[in-house]
Amino acid sequence: MANISLVLLIIFPFLLRLSSAQSLSANFYSSSCPNVLSVIKTAVNSAVSSEARMGASLLRLHFHDCFVNGCDASVLLDDTSNFTGEKTAGPNSGSIRGFDVIDTIKTQVESSCAGIVSCADILAVAARDSVVKLGGPSWTVLLGRRDSTTASLSAANSNLPGPTSSLSALISSFSNKGLTAREMVALSGSHTIGQARCTTFRTRLYNEANINASFATTVKANCPQSGGDNNLSPLDITSPTSFDNAYYKNLQIQKGLLHSDQVLFNGGSTDSIVNTYSSNSATFSTDFANAMVKMGNLSPLTGTNGQIRKNCRKTN
Ligand code: HEM
Ligand SMILES: *[C@@H]1O[C@H](CO)[C@@H](O)[C@H](O)[C@H]1NC(C)=O
Ligand SMILES: *[C@@H]1O[C@H](CO)[C@@H](O)[C@H](O)[C@H]1NC(C)=O
Repeated sequence: MANISLVLLIIFPFLLRLSSAQSLSANFYSSSCPNVLSVIKTAVNSAVSSEARMGASLLRLHFHDCFVNGCDASVLLDDTSNFTGEKTAGPNSGSIRGFDVIDTIKTQVESSCAGIVSCADILAVAARDSVVKLGGPSWTVLLGRRDSTTASLSAANSNLPGPTSSLSALISSFSNKGLTAREMVALSGSHTIGQARCTTFRTRLYNEANINASFATTVKANCPQSGGDNNLSPLDITSPTSFDNAYYKNLQIQKGLLHSDQVLFNGGSTDSIVNTYSSNSATFSTDFANAMVKMGNLSPLTGTNGQIRKNCRKTN
């Protein structure tokens, strides 16, 4: 008995430290960089005012960061002659954007708080501010992530779901990150904003039966059977610059743009979730915000792990 108590007494501080090591907090910069949230918000608002799509692009950057070895800004690292990052991975190449906006924010933040705020936290806050600017819900962003010194092209290729994914592949891709099917459906609601390239939905357009005929005709006009790979179409044809629940209403009438969108409403296990979000925008807003916080908590580097990059594109 005495021995067990002694062992517990000795390991208790370690257990405590283990359980708190990964935790982020809302007030992480409140004394070290009190203006950081307002600097990011102002810059995001200005970028999204000039180009509404930028809000979508910034939201997606945070997703593509978090799903590849955690929210550690690995997606922002540029390739060099002796370093290969994630930017040329299939899901990223010719597709992810918004790096200049992140650079502008980082420069502004460094000028008042040098070496304090991570690029990973900037991505998380910029994603939230983008959603808010386009009319979506708000949430409290937890902070204190640090930046990676590495990136993984192969993890980017294997962990980011593709547009031809089946429903079961989407569910398992998110489940691998600790996210439920319902959270996957809520987070897919991000496709209420932004654009996709013809190459990502051509096969659906010309080969699938569960697509609304008038919608298909409209979209085909800008996505021919061959050529025009980079031509863009809105993921939500109804309101592409409003963060609303129209994405789910579109799925109900077979107007999902990507195969991976329409599988969420195709007679399977997630139809009822689509129906809920379509008929109740408040439920969608709440679930989306909670799922964003959960996604933002994926394996952050904290404490003395990683670094605070000076330039988001390269390690210090
Ligand atoms: C469920 C699995 C998902 C798949 C298969 C998927 C796939 C895609 C694809 C193929 C595009 C178009 C890319 C291009 O043509 O360049 C896209 C765009 C986009 N995705 Fe997803 N996505 C998924 C989930 C998410 C999640 C979870 C988020 C955010 C939390 C998100 C946010 C976006 C946004 C905002 C855009 C538009 C970006 C822009 O206009 O720059 N997606 N997605
Ligand atoms: C990579 O190359 C840069 C110069 O291009 C150099 O400063 C750096 O030390 C190199 N890194 C490694 C790991 O070799
Ligand atoms: C196709 O879209 C039209 C117009 O929005 C809608 O009235 C119709 O119900 C849709 N068809 C299907 C099969 O959902």
